[in-house]
Amino acid sequence: MTDALLQISALEKRYPTKWGGPVLALCGIDLTLRRGDFLALRGPSGCGKTTLLHCVGALLRPDGGKVLIDGIDPYALGSSARSAFRAAKVGFVFQNFHLVPYLSVLDNVMLCALAGGPRSHLETQARDLLEKFRLSHRLRHRPSELSVGEQQRVALVRAVAGGAKLILADEPTGNLDAENGGILLDQLAAFAADGGAVLMVTHDPAASDRAGHRRNMQDGRLTAATNDSDAN
Ligand SMILES: Nc1ncnc2c1ncn2[C@@H]1O[C@H](COP(=O)(O)OP(=O)(O)OP(=O)(O)O)[C@@H](O)[C@H]1O
Ligand SMILES: [Mg+2]
Repeated sequence: MTDALLQISALEKRYPTKWGGPVLALCGIDLTLRRGDFLALRGPSGCGKTTLLHCVGALLRPDGGKVLIDGIDPYALGSSARSAFRAAKVGFVFQNFHLVPYLSVLDNVMLCALAGGPRSHLETQARDLLEKFRLSHRLRHRPSELSVGEQQRVALVRAVAGGAKLILADEPTGNLDAENGGILLDQLAAFAADGGAVLMVTHDPAASDRAGHRRNMQDGRLTAATNDSDAN
C-alpha cells in the first residue's frame, strides 16, 4: 500500500470558447501528495490554479490525464458514486467560505458530515471538532454573526467533518487578517501532520511560508518553486 493520497498525472483541461480556440488551462500536470504533505501552490492570475483544484476535487472532468485519490479515479465512477466519493474523501475551503447563511454553526458542520449515524452521534462529532477549532462558544450563531476568521474556521471544520483526508484550499487566508490567517494555517498544518494532505492555492507569502512544500504554476504547467527548499 502506498502512502500517496493524491496522484495526478499528465492532467489536461481545455475550456472551449465561442470566439476562437479553446483556453488551455492545464497542460500536463504531474503531482503527488502523500499523507502529511502541506503544499502551497502559487502563480499569476489565470494560470490555472482553481481549475486544477476543481479537477483534483472531482468537480470538473479533465480532458486528459488521470487523478487518483487514495488510489481511486473519481472520474471512472458514475456521478452519484463520484459525489459520495468526493464527500467522503475531499474537503474544500474557499476564500469566501460558502457557509449556509440561515443555518447555525453546528448545523453547517453537520450538513456536510456524512449521514450514516444517528443525529446525536453526528452532533457529538461536530461539537468535538468545533471545540478543537476553538469554536465551541459559537455553536448557535449564524455565519453573519461570526467574525471572518471564525467563518473560515467553520468552513474548515465543515471540510473535515465528513472524514476527508484531502483538503483543497483556494486562497483560504485571502479575507483574513494576519492573526486569523495564522490560526487557520496552524490548523491546516495540524490536519496534514495528523495524516491528511493539503493542497493550498495562495498569493499570501505568509501562507506559502507556512506550508511544508511549495510549487509554482505558470500557463497551466507546474514549474520549480522559487525561494524554496522543497525539491518535490
Ligand atoms: N468556464 C471557463 N470558460 C473559459 N475559460 C475559462 C473558464 N474558467 C476559467 N477559464 C480560463 O482558464 C484559465 C485558468 O483559470 P483559473 O480560474 O484556473 O485561473 P487561476 O489561476 O485560478 O486565477 P486566479 O488567481 O485569478 O484565481 C484562465 O485563463 C481563465 O480565463
Ligand atoms: Mg483562482
